[in-house]
Amino acid sequence: MTRTLVTSALPYANGPLHLGHLIGAYLPADCYVRTLRALGEEVLYVCGADEHGVAITIGAEQEGVPYPEYVARWRHAIKDTFDAFGIAFDVWSGTSTCPEHAATSQEFFRRLDMNGYLQKRAEEQLYCERDALFLADRYIVGTCHECGFEEARGDECPRCGKWLDPLRMPKVLCKVCGTAPVRRSTSHWYLDLPKLRDEGFGAWFEDHDWKPNVRAFIGNQLSEIRPRPITRDMRWGVPVPLDRADGETGKVLYVWFDAPIGYVSFTQQWARERGQPEDWKRWWQRPDTRLVHFIGKDNIPFHCLVFPAMLHGLKQDWVLPWQVPAHEFYNLEGRKFSTSKNWTIPLEPLTRRFDPDLVRFYLLASAPETADSEWRWDEFQRSVNTSLADTIGNLATRVLRFAAKHFDARVPPLGAALERELDHSLLEECGPLADPARSVLDFRFRRATEELVANGAAANVFIDRHAPWALRVKDPERAAAVLNTACNWIALLARWMGPFLPRKAQQIWSMVGGAGSVHAQPWPGLPQAGSWRPLAPGTPFGTIEGPFQKITDEQVGAERSHLREGERS
Ligand code: 2FM
Ligand code: ZN
Repeated sequence: MTRTLVTSALPYANGPLHLGHLIGAYLPADCYVRTLRALGEEVLYVCGADEHGVAITIGAEQEGVPYPEYVARWRHAIKDTFDAFGIAFDVWSGTSTCPEHAATSQEFFRRLDMNGYLQKRAEEQLYCERDALFLADRYIVGTCHECGFEEARGDECPRCGKWLDPLRMPKVLCKVCGTAPVRRSTSHWYLDLPKLRDEGFGAWFEDHDWKPNVRAFIGNQLSEIRPRPITRDMRWGVPVPLDRADGETGKVLYVWFDAPIGYVSFTQQWARERGQPEDWKRWWQRPDTRLVHFIGKDNIPFHCLVFPAMLHGLKQDWVLPWQVPAHEFYNLEGRKFSTSKNWTIPLEPLTRRFDPDLVRFYLLASAPETADSEWRWDEFQRSVNTSLADTIGNLATRVLRFAAKHFDARVPPLGAALERELDHSLLEECGPLADPARSVLDFRFRRATEELVANGAAANVFIDRHAPWALRVKDPERAAAVLNTACNWIALLARWMGPFLPRKAQQIWSMVGGAGSVHAQPWPGLPQAGSWRPLAPGTPFGTIEGPFQKITDEQVGAERSHLREGERS
Protein backbone atom coordinates (compact mmCIF):
# COMPACT_ATOMS: atom_id res chain seq x y z
CA MET A 1 0.00 0.00 0.00
CA THR A 2 1.27 3.43 -0.86
CA ARG A 3 0.40 6.82 0.54
CA THR A 4 -0.45 9.38 -2.15
CA LEU A 5 -0.79 13.11 -1.67
CA VAL A 6 -2.68 14.61 -4.58
CA THR A 7 -2.92 18.33 -5.29
CA SER A 8 -4.75 20.31 -7.94
CA ALA A 9 -3.40 23.71 -9.01
CA LEU A 10 -4.84 26.35 -6.72
CA PRO A 11 -7.27 28.36 -8.86
CA TYR A 12 -6.94 32.16 -8.73
CA ALA A 13 -9.75 33.69 -6.71
CA ASN A 14 -10.53 36.23 -9.40
CA GLY A 15 -13.00 34.71 -11.80
CA PRO A 16 -15.17 31.76 -12.71
CA LEU A 17 -13.80 28.41 -13.79
CA HIS A 18 -14.42 27.13 -17.28
CA LEU A 19 -14.42 23.63 -18.74
CA GLY A 20 -10.75 23.96 -19.69
CA HIS A 21 -9.85 24.46 -16.02
CA LEU A 22 -11.97 21.51 -14.96
CA ILE A 23 -10.33 19.06 -17.33
CA GLY A 24 -6.88 20.58 -16.89
CA ALA A 25 -6.24 20.12 -13.21
CA TYR A 26 -9.36 19.01 -11.33
CA LEU A 27 -11.44 16.27 -12.94
CA PRO A 28 -8.50 13.99 -13.71
CA ALA A 29 -7.28 14.47 -10.15
CA ASP A 30 -10.70 13.69 -8.71
CA CYS A 31 -10.98 10.59 -10.89
CA TYR A 32 -7.48 9.52 -9.84
CA VAL A 33 -8.21 10.06 -6.14
CA ARG A 34 -11.51 8.18 -6.32
CA THR A 35 -9.72 5.30 -8.06
CA LEU A 36 -6.97 5.15 -5.44
CA ARG A 37 -9.54 5.17 -2.67
CA ALA A 38 -11.52 2.41 -4.38
CA LEU A 39 -8.33 0.35 -4.47
CA GLY A 40 -7.96 0.83 -0.72
CA GLU A 41 -4.97 3.16 -0.96
CA GLU A 42 -4.25 5.91 1.53
CA VAL A 43 -4.80 9.21 -0.24
CA LEU A 44 -5.23 12.87 0.62
CA TYR A 45 -6.56 15.40 -1.89
CA VAL A 46 -5.64 19.03 -1.23
CA CYS A 47 -6.76 22.23 -2.91
CA GLY A 48 -7.84 25.79 -2.19
CA ALA A 49 -7.89 29.22 -3.73
CA ASP A 50 -4.81 31.20 -4.77
CA GLU A 51 -5.69 34.56 -3.27
CA HIS A 52 -2.69 36.81 -3.54
CA GLY A 53 -0.93 38.47 -6.44
CA VAL A 54 -1.51 41.24 -8.86
CA ALA A 55 -4.29 39.57 -10.86
CA ILE A 56 -6.35 39.66 -7.67
CA THR A 57 -5.51 43.17 -6.56
CA ILE A 58 -6.27 44.57 -10.00
CA GLY A 59 -9.59 42.69 -10.12
CA ALA A 60 -10.63 43.95 -6.69
CA GLU A 61 -9.54 47.51 -7.42
CA GLN A 62 -11.46 47.59 -10.68
CA GLU A 63 -14.60 46.62 -8.77
CA GLY A 64 -13.82 48.89 -5.82
CA VAL A 65 -14.14 45.97 -3.40
CA PRO A 66 -11.78 45.24 -0.47
CA TYR A 67 -9.37 42.41 -1.27
CA PRO A 68 -10.62 39.98 1.40
CA GLU A 69 -14.21 40.42 0.29
CA TYR A 70 -13.29 39.95 -3.36
CA VAL A 71 -11.34 36.73 -2.81
CA ALA A 72 -13.97 35.32 -0.45
CA ARG A 73 -16.63 35.78 -3.11
CA TRP A 74 -14.59 33.91 -5.72
CA ARG A 75 -13.41 31.27 -3.25
CA HIS A 76 -17.05 30.37 -2.58
CA ALA A 77 -18.15 30.60 -6.21
CA ILE A 78 -15.33 28.35 -7.35
CA LYS A 79 -16.06 25.83 -4.62
CA ASP A 80 -19.73 25.77 -5.68
CA THR A 81 -18.59 24.80 -9.16
CA PHE A 82 -16.41 22.02 -7.80
CA ASP A 83 -19.30 20.75 -5.69
CA ALA A 84 -21.64 20.80 -8.67
CA PHE A 85 -19.21 18.63 -10.62
CA GLY A 86 -18.62 16.21 -7.75
CA ILE A 87 -14.97 17.16 -7.24
CA ALA A 88 -14.35 16.09 -3.68
CA PHE A 89 -11.28 17.50 -1.94
CA ASP A 90 -10.31 16.42 1.54
CA VAL A 91 -9.48 20.01 2.25
CA TRP A 92 -10.43 23.23 0.47
CA SER A 93 -8.93 26.43 1.85
CA GLY A 94 -7.48 29.72 0.65
CA THR A 95 -4.07 31.34 0.87
CA SER A 96 -5.36 34.49 2.56
CA THR A 97 -7.57 32.72 5.10
CA CYS A 98 -5.86 29.45 5.98
CA PRO A 99 -4.63 30.09 9.55
CA GLU A 100 -1.37 28.23 8.92
CA HIS A 101 -0.51 29.77 5.58
CA ALA A 102 1.35 32.97 6.41
CA ALA A 103 3.49 31.38 9.14
CA THR A 104 4.39 28.40 6.97
CA SER A 105 5.26 30.60 3.99
CA GLN A 106 7.41 32.78 6.20
CA GLU A 107 9.12 29.69 7.58
CA PHE A 108 10.00 28.62 4.04
CA PHE A 109 11.51 32.06 3.42
CA ARG A 110 13.40 31.97 6.70
CA ARG A 111 14.90 28.52 6.16
CA LEU A 112 15.84 29.17 2.56
CA ASP A 113 17.56 32.36 3.72
CA MET A 114 19.36 30.60 6.58
CA ASN A 115 20.47 27.85 4.20
CA GLY A 116 22.02 30.43 1.89
CA TYR A 117 19.54 30.18 -0.98
CA LEU A 118 18.22 33.74 -0.93
CA GLN A 119 20.06 36.83 -2.15
CA LYS A 120 19.00 40.36 -1.44
CA ARG A 121 19.56 42.78 -4.29
CA ALA A 122 19.03 46.51 -4.70
CA GLU A 123 17.70 47.19 -8.16
CA GLU A 124 15.73 49.54 -10.29
CA GLN A 125 12.10 48.81 -10.91
CA LEU A 126 9.30 50.52 -12.70
CA TYR A 127 7.32 52.88 -10.49
CA CYS A 128 4.12 54.75 -11.29
CA GLU A 129 4.33 58.23 -9.81
CA ARG A 130 0.67 58.93 -10.31
CA ASP A 131 -0.41 55.82 -8.34
CA ALA A 132 2.61 55.84 -5.96
CA LEU A 133 3.09 52.15 -6.77
CA PHE A 134 5.93 49.89 -7.79
CA LEU A 135 4.58 48.12 -10.84
CA ALA A 136 4.86 44.42 -10.27
CA ASP A 137 4.01 41.82 -12.90
CA ARG A 138 0.60 42.47 -14.38
CA TYR A 139 0.54 46.10 -13.33
CA ILE A 140 2.70 46.55 -16.42
CA VAL A 141 1.52 46.26 -20.01
CA GLY A 142 4.02 46.58 -22.79
CA THR A 143 5.95 45.05 -25.62
CA CYS A 144 7.47 41.60 -25.14
CA HIS A 145 11.25 41.71 -25.45
CA GLU A 146 11.25 38.19 -26.88
CA CYS A 147 8.55 38.17 -29.54
CA GLY A 148 7.42 41.79 -29.91
CA PHE A 149 3.82 41.13 -28.80
CA GLU A 150 2.45 44.53 -27.78
CA GLU A 151 0.10 43.52 -25.00
CA ALA A 152 2.50 41.48 -22.90
CA ARG A 153 2.34 41.58 -19.09
CA GLY A 154 5.31 42.50 -16.98
CA ASP A 155 5.79 38.95 -15.73
CA GLU A 156 5.22 36.86 -18.80
CA CYS A 157 4.18 37.08 -22.39
CA PRO A 158 0.85 35.45 -23.17
CA ARG A 159 1.93 34.94 -26.77
CA CYS A 160 5.38 33.33 -26.50
CA GLY A 161 5.14 32.18 -22.88
CA LYS A 162 8.56 33.58 -21.92
CA TRP A 163 9.26 35.06 -18.50
CA LEU A 164 9.86 38.78 -18.98
CA ASP A 165 12.05 41.42 -17.40
CA PRO A 166 9.99 44.64 -17.44
CA LEU A 167 13.15 46.77 -17.60
CA ARG A 168 14.02 45.18 -20.92
CA MET A 169 10.57 45.71 -22.45
CA PRO A 170 10.82 48.38 -25.16
CA LYS A 171 7.51 50.07 -24.32
CA VAL A 172 5.73 49.91 -20.95
CA LEU A 173 2.67 51.52 -19.36
CA CYS A 174 1.01 51.38 -15.95
CA LYS A 175 -2.02 49.13 -16.18
CA VAL A 176 -3.92 51.18 -13.59
CA CYS A 177 -3.67 54.68 -15.06
CA GLY A 178 -2.07 54.20 -18.47
CA THR A 179 0.84 56.58 -17.87
CA ALA A 180 4.49 55.71 -18.48
CA PRO A 181 6.33 54.62 -15.32
CA VAL A 182 9.76 55.78 -14.19
CA ARG A 183 12.67 53.75 -12.80
CA ARG A 184 13.18 53.79 -9.06
CA SER A 185 15.47 51.87 -6.76
CA THR A 186 14.13 49.18 -4.41
CA SER A 187 15.38 45.95 -2.79
CA HIS A 188 14.19 42.43 -3.34
CA TRP A 189 15.04 38.88 -2.40
CA TYR A 190 15.91 36.38 -5.08
CA LEU A 191 15.72 32.60 -4.91
CA ASP A 192 19.14 31.35 -5.92
CA LEU A 193 18.01 28.69 -8.37
CA PRO A 194 21.48 28.14 -9.90
CA LYS A 195 22.87 27.36 -6.46
CA LEU A 196 19.98 25.03 -5.66
CA ARG A 197 20.54 23.32 -9.01
CA ASP A 198 24.24 22.86 -8.32
CA GLU A 199 23.68 21.63 -4.77
CA GLY A 200 21.63 18.55 -5.52
CA PHE A 201 18.41 19.76 -7.04
CA GLY A 202 19.74 19.54 -10.60
CA ALA A 203 20.77 15.92 -10.12
CA TRP A 204 17.35 15.04 -8.75
CA PHE A 205 15.61 16.79 -11.65
CA GLU A 206 17.72 15.11 -14.31
CA ASP A 207 17.25 11.64 -12.83
CA HIS A 208 13.54 12.00 -12.28
CA ASP A 209 11.22 10.01 -14.49
CA TRP A 210 9.24 12.90 -16.01
CA LYS A 211 6.52 12.44 -18.55
CA PRO A 212 7.72 13.42 -22.05
CA ASN A 213 5.59 16.57 -22.28
CA VAL A 214 7.00 17.85 -18.98
CA ARG A 215 10.58 17.24 -20.04
CA ALA A 216 9.95 18.85 -23.41
CA PHE A 217 8.32 21.90 -21.81
CA ILE A 218 11.18 22.42 -19.39
CA GLY A 219 13.76 21.91 -22.17
CA ASN A 220 17.03 23.47 -21.18
CA GLN A 221 15.54 25.98 -18.72
CA LEU A 222 17.46 24.30 -15.91
CA SER A 223 20.87 24.83 -17.49
CA GLU A 224 20.04 28.47 -18.19
CA ILE A 225 18.20 29.16 -14.97
CA ARG A 226 18.73 32.48 -13.20
CA PRO A 227 17.87 33.65 -9.69
CA ARG A 228 14.21 34.66 -9.50
CA PRO A 229 12.80 37.47 -7.38
CA ILE A 230 10.42 36.16 -4.72
CA THR A 231 9.27 39.41 -3.13
CA ARG A 232 7.18 42.34 -4.31
CA ASP A 233 6.40 45.88 -3.17
CA MET A 234 2.71 45.40 -2.54
CA ARG A 235 0.15 45.76 0.19
CA TRP A 236 -1.64 42.43 -0.33
CA GLY A 237 0.18 39.17 0.34
CA VAL A 238 2.21 37.37 3.00
CA PRO A 239 4.64 39.88 4.54
CA VAL A 240 8.35 39.11 4.37
CA PRO A 241 9.12 37.82 7.92
CA LEU A 242 10.23 40.72 10.08
CA ASP A 243 13.23 38.91 11.51
CA ARG A 244 14.67 38.48 8.02
CA ALA A 245 13.47 41.78 6.50
CA ASP A 246 16.53 43.93 7.36
CA GLY A 247 14.21 46.70 8.42
CA GLU A 248 12.50 46.76 5.02
CA THR A 249 8.76 47.28 5.14
CA GLY A 250 5.96 47.01 2.62
CA LYS A 251 7.34 43.85 1.03
CA VAL A 252 5.32 40.70 0.51
CA LEU A 253 6.16 37.29 -0.85
CA TYR A 254 5.58 36.89 -4.57
CA VAL A 255 2.34 35.02 -5.23
CA TRP A 256 4.12 32.20 -7.01
CA PHE A 257 6.32 31.73 -3.94
CA ASP A 258 3.46 31.50 -1.49
CA ALA A 259 0.84 29.73 -3.63
CA PRO A 260 2.41 26.25 -3.80
CA ILE A 261 3.21 26.47 -0.10
CA GLY A 262 -0.58 26.44 0.17
CA TYR A 263 -0.43 22.72 -0.56
CA VAL A 264 1.54 22.36 2.68
CA SER A 265 -0.35 24.84 4.83
CA PHE A 266 -3.71 23.43 3.76
CA THR A 267 -2.47 19.95 4.74
CA GLN A 268 -1.49 21.40 8.11
CA GLN A 269 -4.93 22.94 8.48
CA TRP A 270 -6.57 19.60 7.61
CA ALA A 271 -4.43 17.78 10.18
CA ARG A 272 -5.16 20.31 12.92
CA GLU A 273 -8.88 20.28 12.23
CA ARG A 274 -8.83 16.50 12.64
CA GLY A 275 -7.19 16.88 16.03
CA GLN A 276 -3.78 15.55 14.87
CA PRO A 277 -1.76 18.68 14.20
CA GLU A 278 1.49 16.82 13.55
CA ASP A 279 -0.05 14.41 11.06
CA TRP A 280 0.78 16.65 8.08
CA LYS A 281 4.39 15.49 8.36
CA ARG A 282 3.37 11.98 7.39
CA TRP A 283 2.32 13.42 4.03
CA TRP A 284 5.18 15.84 3.43
CA GLN A 285 8.20 14.46 5.18
CA ARG A 286 8.08 10.70 4.79
CA PRO A 287 10.01 9.27 1.84
CA ASP A 288 7.30 6.73 1.07
CA THR A 289 4.71 9.41 0.18
CA ARG A 290 3.97 9.88 -3.50
CA LEU A 291 3.28 13.53 -4.28
CA VAL A 292 1.21 14.06 -7.42
CA HIS A 293 0.52 17.57 -8.73
CA PHE A 294 -2.27 17.88 -11.29
CA ILE A 295 -1.80 21.07 -13.28
CA GLY A 296 -2.28 22.69 -16.67
CA LYS A 297 0.80 22.85 -18.83
CA ASP A 298 1.48 26.54 -18.21
CA ASN A 299 2.17 25.69 -14.56
CA ILE A 300 4.94 23.19 -15.34
CA PRO A 301 8.00 25.35 -14.52
CA PHE A 302 6.70 26.20 -11.06
CA HIS A 303 5.74 22.64 -10.16
CA CYS A 304 8.72 20.86 -11.70
CA LEU A 305 11.46 23.40 -11.05
CA VAL A 306 10.73 26.22 -8.66
CA PHE A 307 8.59 24.59 -5.97
CA PRO A 308 10.61 21.34 -5.74
CA ALA A 309 13.78 23.44 -5.66
CA MET A 310 12.31 25.34 -2.71
CA LEU A 311 11.45 22.08 -0.94
CA HIS A 312 14.93 20.75 -1.64
CA GLY A 313 16.46 23.96 -0.26
CA LEU A 314 14.73 23.49 3.10
CA LYS A 315 17.11 20.57 3.72
CA GLN A 316 14.61 18.66 5.79
CA ASP A 317 13.94 15.73 3.49
CA TRP A 318 10.68 17.02 2.13
CA VAL A 319 8.81 14.90 -0.35
CA LEU A 320 9.43 16.05 -3.93
CA PRO A 321 6.90 15.46 -6.72
CA TRP A 322 6.56 11.93 -7.95
CA GLN A 323 4.40 12.69 -10.97
CA VAL A 324 3.16 15.96 -12.44
CA PRO A 325 0.33 15.11 -14.81
CA ALA A 326 0.24 18.31 -16.84
CA HIS A 327 -2.54 18.67 -19.32
CA GLU A 328 -2.25 20.43 -22.65
CA PHE A 329 -4.71 23.16 -23.59
CA TYR A 330 -8.41 22.54 -23.96
CA ASN A 331 -10.32 24.64 -26.47
CA LEU A 332 -13.96 25.29 -27.22
CA GLU A 333 -15.18 24.45 -30.73
CA GLY A 334 -11.81 25.19 -32.31
CA ARG A 335 -10.93 28.34 -30.37
CA LYS A 336 -9.44 29.23 -27.01
CA PHE A 337 -11.84 29.70 -24.09
CA SER A 338 -12.15 33.41 -23.39
CA THR A 339 -14.41 34.84 -20.71
CA SER A 340 -13.76 38.40 -21.89
CA LYS A 341 -14.66 37.55 -25.51
CA ASN A 342 -17.65 35.53 -24.37
CA TRP A 343 -16.31 32.39 -26.02
CA THR A 344 -17.16 30.22 -23.08
CA ILE A 345 -19.87 28.08 -21.52
CA PRO A 346 -20.83 29.45 -18.10
CA LEU A 347 -20.73 26.44 -15.83
CA GLU A 348 -23.47 27.13 -13.34
CA PRO A 349 -26.22 27.37 -15.99
CA LEU A 350 -24.64 24.43 -17.82
CA THR A 351 -25.24 22.20 -14.82
CA ARG A 352 -28.93 23.06 -15.00
CA ARG A 353 -29.15 22.05 -18.67
CA PHE A 354 -27.04 18.89 -18.49
CA ASP A 355 -26.27 16.49 -15.70
CA PRO A 356 -22.74 17.34 -14.48
CA ASP A 357 -21.80 13.66 -14.60
CA LEU A 358 -22.33 13.68 -18.38
CA VAL A 359 -20.03 16.66 -18.64
CA ARG A 360 -17.46 14.90 -16.46
CA PHE A 361 -17.57 11.84 -18.65
CA TYR A 362 -17.15 13.69 -21.92
CA LEU A 363 -14.38 15.89 -20.53
CA LEU A 364 -12.45 12.83 -19.37
CA ALA A 365 -13.12 11.11 -22.70
CA SER A 366 -11.67 14.12 -24.56
CA ALA A 367 -8.94 15.07 -22.05
CA PRO A 368 -5.96 16.93 -23.56
CA GLU A 369 -3.48 14.33 -22.31
CA THR A 370 -0.82 14.40 -24.97
CA ALA A 371 -2.06 17.10 -27.35
CA ASP A 372 -4.46 20.01 -27.22
CA SER A 373 -8.07 18.94 -27.55
CA GLU A 374 -11.45 20.60 -27.46
CA TRP A 375 -15.05 20.58 -26.35
CA ARG A 376 -17.35 20.03 -29.31
CA TRP A 377 -21.09 20.00 -28.79
CA ASP A 378 -21.67 17.32 -31.44
CA GLU A 379 -19.02 15.12 -29.83
CA PHE A 380 -20.57 15.65 -26.41
CA GLN A 381 -23.88 14.52 -27.88
CA ARG A 382 -22.31 11.48 -29.54
CA SER A 383 -20.43 10.53 -26.41
CA VAL A 384 -23.52 10.73 -24.19
CA ASN A 385 -25.92 9.11 -26.65
CA THR A 386 -23.70 6.30 -27.83
CA SER A 387 -21.34 5.47 -25.01
CA LEU A 388 -23.62 6.18 -22.08
CA ALA A 389 -27.26 6.00 -23.18
CA ASP A 390 -27.04 3.24 -25.83
CA THR A 391 -24.36 1.11 -24.27
CA ILE A 392 -24.73 1.37 -20.50
CA GLY A 393 -28.14 2.96 -19.90
CA ASN A 394 -29.99 0.81 -22.37
CA LEU A 395 -28.37 -2.35 -21.01
CA ALA A 396 -29.46 -1.46 -17.49
CA THR A 397 -33.04 -0.63 -18.35
CA ARG A 398 -33.77 -3.51 -20.70
CA VAL A 399 -32.30 -6.11 -18.36
CA LEU A 400 -33.83 -4.71 -15.18
CA ARG A 401 -37.28 -4.01 -16.62
CA PHE A 402 -37.50 -7.52 -18.00
CA ALA A 403 -36.25 -9.08 -14.77
CA ALA A 404 -38.59 -6.88 -12.76
CA LYS A 405 -41.56 -8.03 -14.78
CA HIS A 406 -40.84 -11.74 -14.80
CA PHE A 407 -38.76 -12.33 -11.69
CA ASP A 408 -40.53 -10.31 -9.05
CA ALA A 409 -38.21 -7.26 -9.30
CA ARG A 410 -35.32 -9.19 -7.77
CA VAL A 411 -31.98 -10.51 -8.92
CA PRO A 412 -32.96 -13.88 -10.46
CA PRO A 413 -31.43 -17.16 -9.27
CA LEU A 414 -28.20 -18.48 -10.72
CA GLY A 415 -28.38 -22.20 -11.46
CA ALA A 416 -24.99 -23.47 -10.26
CA ALA A 417 -24.67 -25.72 -13.28
CA LEU A 418 -24.80 -22.74 -15.62
CA GLU A 419 -22.43 -20.43 -13.79
CA ARG A 420 -19.23 -21.72 -15.36
CA GLU A 421 -20.58 -21.64 -18.90
CA LEU A 422 -22.01 -18.13 -18.58
CA ASP A 423 -18.88 -16.80 -16.92
CA HIS A 424 -16.80 -18.23 -19.69
CA SER A 425 -19.06 -16.64 -22.27
CA LEU A 426 -19.08 -13.20 -20.69
CA LEU A 427 -15.50 -13.01 -19.50
CA GLU A 428 -13.84 -14.69 -22.49
CA GLU A 429 -16.00 -14.39 -25.55
CA CYS A 430 -18.05 -11.22 -25.53
CA GLY A 431 -15.41 -8.61 -26.04
CA PRO A 432 -12.15 -7.30 -24.78
CA LEU A 433 -12.51 -6.43 -21.09
CA ALA A 434 -10.18 -4.17 -19.16
CA ASP A 435 -9.79 -2.78 -15.68
CA PRO A 436 -10.14 1.00 -16.15
CA ALA A 437 -8.23 1.59 -12.91
CA ARG A 438 -5.00 0.53 -14.59
CA SER A 439 -5.31 3.27 -17.18
CA VAL A 440 -6.28 5.83 -14.55
CA LEU A 441 -3.19 4.96 -12.51
CA ASP A 442 -1.21 5.56 -15.68
CA PHE A 443 -2.92 8.96 -16.09
CA ARG A 444 -4.61 7.70 -19.27
CA PHE A 445 -8.10 9.01 -18.64
CA ARG A 446 -9.32 8.86 -22.22
CA ARG A 447 -8.38 5.23 -22.51
CA ALA A 448 -10.00 4.51 -19.15
CA THR A 449 -13.36 5.88 -20.38
CA GLU A 450 -13.10 3.70 -23.49
CA GLU A 451 -12.45 0.66 -21.32
CA LEU A 452 -15.41 1.44 -19.13
CA VAL A 453 -17.67 1.61 -22.18
CA ALA A 454 -16.12 -1.53 -23.67
CA ASN A 455 -17.01 -3.41 -20.48
CA GLY A 456 -20.59 -2.23 -21.00
CA ALA A 457 -20.53 -3.23 -24.65
CA ALA A 458 -19.42 -6.75 -23.71
CA ALA A 459 -22.56 -7.16 -21.61
CA ASN A 460 -24.70 -6.12 -24.57
CA VAL A 461 -23.04 -8.77 -26.71
CA PHE A 462 -23.64 -11.29 -23.92
CA ILE A 463 -27.29 -10.47 -23.53
CA ASP A 464 -27.93 -10.51 -27.28
CA ARG A 465 -26.16 -13.83 -27.59
CA HIS A 466 -28.12 -15.50 -24.77
CA ALA A 467 -31.42 -13.65 -25.38
CA PRO A 468 -33.19 -14.31 -22.08
CA TRP A 469 -36.44 -12.95 -23.57
CA ALA A 470 -36.60 -15.94 -25.89
CA LEU A 471 -35.66 -18.44 -23.19
CA ARG A 472 -38.10 -17.39 -20.52
CA VAL A 473 -40.84 -19.88 -21.32
CA LYS A 474 -38.79 -22.64 -22.87
CA ASP A 475 -35.97 -22.72 -20.32
CA PRO A 476 -36.77 -20.43 -17.37
CA GLU A 477 -33.84 -21.63 -15.31
CA ARG A 478 -31.40 -20.63 -18.00
CA ALA A 479 -33.17 -17.31 -18.57
CA ALA A 480 -32.82 -16.60 -14.84
CA ALA A 481 -29.11 -17.42 -14.82
CA VAL A 482 -28.45 -15.19 -17.82
CA LEU A 483 -30.32 -12.33 -16.14
CA ASN A 484 -28.52 -12.95 -12.86
CA THR A 485 -25.24 -12.62 -14.72
CA ALA A 486 -26.38 -9.46 -16.48
CA CYS A 487 -27.67 -7.86 -13.25
CA ASN A 488 -24.39 -8.56 -11.51
CA TRP A 489 -22.48 -7.15 -14.44
CA ILE A 490 -24.58 -3.97 -14.23
CA ALA A 491 -23.56 -3.74 -10.58
CA LEU A 492 -19.92 -4.07 -11.60
CA LEU A 493 -20.35 -1.42 -14.25
CA ALA A 494 -21.75 0.90 -11.59
CA ARG A 495 -18.64 0.29 -9.50
CA TRP A 496 -16.32 0.89 -12.44
CA MET A 497 -18.23 4.09 -13.22
CA GLY A 498 -17.70 5.47 -9.71
CA PRO A 499 -14.56 7.55 -10.37
CA PHE A 500 -15.93 8.90 -13.66
CA LEU A 501 -19.65 9.48 -13.08
CA PRO A 502 -19.99 9.31 -9.28
CA ARG A 503 -23.70 10.13 -9.06
CA LYS A 504 -24.85 8.09 -12.01
CA ALA A 505 -22.82 5.19 -10.63
CA GLN A 506 -24.76 5.43 -7.39
CA GLN A 507 -28.08 5.61 -9.23
CA ILE A 508 -27.36 2.45 -11.24
CA TRP A 509 -25.96 0.65 -8.19
CA SER A 510 -29.13 1.36 -6.18
CA MET A 511 -31.35 0.52 -9.15
CA VAL A 512 -29.90 -3.00 -9.44
CA GLY A 513 -30.31 -3.52 -5.70
CA GLY A 514 -26.85 -2.64 -4.40
CA ALA A 515 -26.93 -1.57 -0.74
CA GLY A 516 -25.26 1.56 0.64
CA SER A 517 -22.70 3.60 -1.22
CA VAL A 518 -21.29 2.27 -4.45
CA HIS A 519 -18.09 4.15 -3.61
CA ALA A 520 -17.55 1.96 -0.56
CA GLN A 521 -17.65 -1.27 -2.58
CA PRO A 522 -14.43 -3.14 -3.26
CA TRP A 523 -12.92 -2.51 -6.68
CA PRO A 524 -13.77 -5.39 -9.04
CA GLY A 525 -10.59 -5.22 -11.10
CA LEU A 526 -10.89 -7.70 -13.94
CA PRO A 527 -13.45 -10.29 -12.78
CA GLN A 528 -12.41 -13.91 -12.24
CA ALA A 529 -14.81 -16.67 -13.24
CA GLY A 530 -16.88 -17.96 -10.33
CA SER A 531 -16.08 -15.21 -7.87
CA TRP A 532 -17.21 -11.87 -9.13
CA ARG A 533 -20.94 -11.50 -8.49
CA PRO A 534 -21.60 -8.86 -5.80
CA LEU A 535 -25.39 -9.39 -5.63
CA ALA A 536 -27.07 -12.36 -3.98
CA PRO A 537 -30.01 -13.92 -5.85
CA GLY A 538 -33.25 -12.50 -4.50
CA THR A 539 -31.82 -9.01 -3.89
CA PRO A 540 -34.69 -6.58 -4.56
CA PHE A 541 -34.20 -3.91 -7.22
CA GLY A 542 -34.51 -0.22 -6.50
CA THR A 543 -36.49 2.19 -8.65
CA ILE A 544 -35.80 1.51 -12.30
CA GLU A 545 -35.36 4.63 -14.34
CA GLY A 546 -33.35 5.28 -17.50
CA PRO A 547 -30.12 6.80 -16.17
CA PHE A 548 -29.19 8.70 -19.34
CA GLN A 549 -31.41 10.97 -21.39
CA LYS A 550 -30.27 11.31 -24.97
CA ILE A 551 -29.18 14.72 -26.14
CA THR A 552 -31.19 15.95 -29.12
CA ASP A 553 -30.01 17.77 -32.24
CA GLU A 554 -32.15 20.71 -31.13
CA GLN A 555 -30.25 20.94 -27.85
CA VAL A 556 -26.94 20.91 -29.68
CA GLY A 557 -28.18 23.57 -32.11
CA ALA A 558 -29.35 25.77 -29.24
CA GLU A 559 -25.99 25.47 -27.47
CA ARG A 560 -24.11 26.38 -30.62
CA SER A 561 -26.24 29.42 -31.31
CA HIS A 562 -25.93 30.51 -27.64
CA LEU A 563 -22.21 30.48 -28.10
CA ARG A 564 -22.28 32.57 -31.27
CA GLU A 565 -24.82 35.02 -29.81
CA GLY A 566 -22.68 35.41 -26.68
CA GLU A 567 -19.72 36.16 -28.88
CA ARG A 568 -21.60 38.90 -30.76
CA SER A 569 -23.04 40.55 -27.64
O1 2FM B 1 -2.30 29.25 -12.83
C1 2FM B 1 -2.97 29.36 -11.83
O2 2FM B 1 -4.21 29.34 -11.85
C2 2FM B 1 -2.30 29.46 -10.49
N1 2FM B 1 -3.20 30.10 -9.56
C3 2FM B 1 -1.89 28.10 -10.04
C4 2FM B 1 -1.20 28.05 -8.76
S1 2FM B 1 -0.79 26.46 -8.43
C5 2FM B 1 0.00 26.41 -6.99
F1 2FM B 1 1.22 26.60 -7.10
F2 2FM B 1 -0.55 27.04 -6.09
ZN1 ZN C 1 -0.31 54.38 -12.84
